Amino acid sequence: MGTRPPQFAAPPSAILAGHVWSFSRDPLGFLTSAARNYGDTVRLKFGGRTTWFLSDPALIHQILVQDWRKFEKGTGLKRSKPLFGNGLLTSEGEMWRRQHKLIVPIFHPERVASYGPMMVDEADSFTREWVSSTQVDLLEATTELTLRIVMRTLFNAKPGDTGAISEAVECAQAEFARSIPFIIMLPSWVPTPVTPRLRRAISHLDTAVEHLIAQRRNEHADHGDLLSLLLAARDDETQDGMDNKQLRDELLTLFLAGHETSALALAWGLMLIAQNPGVESKLVDEASRVYGNAHPHPNDRAALVYTSAVVQEVLRLYPPAWSVGREAIENCNVGKVPLRKGDVAFFSQWVVHRDPRWFYNPDEFIPERWLDGSTEANPKFSYFPFGGGPRVCIGSQFALMEVILLLSFLVARFHFQLAPEFVPDLYPAITLRPAHPMKMTVTVRQ
Ligand code: HEM
Repeated sequence: MGTRPPQFAAPPSAILAGHVWSFSRDPLGFLTSAARNYGDTVRLKFGGRTTWFLSDPALIHQILVQDWRKFEKGTGLKRSKPLFGNGLLTSEGEMWRRQHKLIVPIFHPERVASYGPMMVDEADSFTREWVSSTQVDLLEATTELTLRIVMRTLFNAKPGDTGAISEAVECAQAEFARSIPFIIMLPSWVPTPVTPRLRRAISHLDTAVEHLIAQRRNEHADHGDLLSLLLAARDDETQDGMDNKQLRDELLTLFLAGHETSALALAWGLMLIAQNPGVESKLVDEASRVYGNAHPHPNDRAALVYTSAVVQEVLRLYPPAWSVGREAIENCNVGKVPLRKGDVAFFSQWVVHRDPRWFYNPDEFIPERWLDGSTEANPKFSYFPFGGGPRVCIGSQFALMEVILLLSFLVARFHFQLAPEFVPDLYPAITLRPAHPMKMTVTVRQ
């Protein structure tokens, strides 16, 4: 280890486990204090593996954009293959390139805009039963809502039609989240452990998805949804379509990646708005000025300037994807950091988004910062809620459309009040989740 240059500081660590225990106890606190106390390049040990924790936007840019070919996805995503299979989020190399090319047109801005009215329509019917004094668990509610939206856009289905899939998804996700602490400690050559419960949940999921695919293949009809597009997609060169296994992996990837993150953005957003009445009244004013008593429409997005700033600020303070990791597939230098093949580079939106070099009063919720010019000179990758480079989130425009329209719609209709006993503790699993139920009381606006 003496060959490593001495300037790469590190917090104290245990002899065998390295930093695993300190990290597992409080990932966000540990990483924030590592960056603030030891700088932009911190050398960590997770078991036997060297992990470079980087907080310099220029280095993040180098890894995600300039040198992206020298890296693969990090341990967390690699380990999630039992769930996602070889879908767009987890595949690499030629397989990823081919699938990316097939799927990218599905997220064309015009197609995404066509989903906007459906999204608001789902929110309208979902909240129709809410009367004043209705108590909701906010994350449960936004998850149900974004699940319905993704099911309608992906499968052209009403919730009852795909109940088996959503149940199995919930179960598989919960089981997978439970096994994360064991998973990060294992060396990469040890296969991901799959508990019997997780195996059962995945098998239910597979059966439900295969049934859906078989049904659609037999129908030969274009439903105008993502599944129809995936079934019709052909490789430019070979004219091959996707086989059932690949379709299953892509569907599950889009299904899982496409609802939980948006649900979290909405829930964190409504929590922050409930805590900031000044922001709430500006949102309500903007909604009534832009679309009055109608529903918000994708064409209103350009005019929803303040709402868009609120969403940017929510994704800054509570980024649903709170970290990104990459594994070096060859020796390379990133800035002055000498990465060896197999080393992990790891960066956190939570840490960079709260860096006082880029954002004044970084822990405060100030949507105006996105309108007052203070963020304009910031370097690229001082803000990256959707990652970046070729592996950037393919659903970012879908998600922004959804969160902006729904947040505006919900705040214009309802006032949300947090239960007095709510404690805003965090549970950073694969995504950044609240540790406790987000109980809210809803009041209908006149
Ligand atoms: C607020 C909501 C969302 C956030 C914060 C988010 C965040 C991210 C991030 C950070 C990545 C990059 C991961 C990496 O580099 O390792 C990513 C990738 C991805 N996201 Fe999202 N996402 C959101 C919504 C969505 C939606 C709505 C969909 C689909 C409908 C989606 C599908 C995907 C897929 C397929 C990838 C992998 C892309 C690739 O590797 O080519 N995401 N997302």
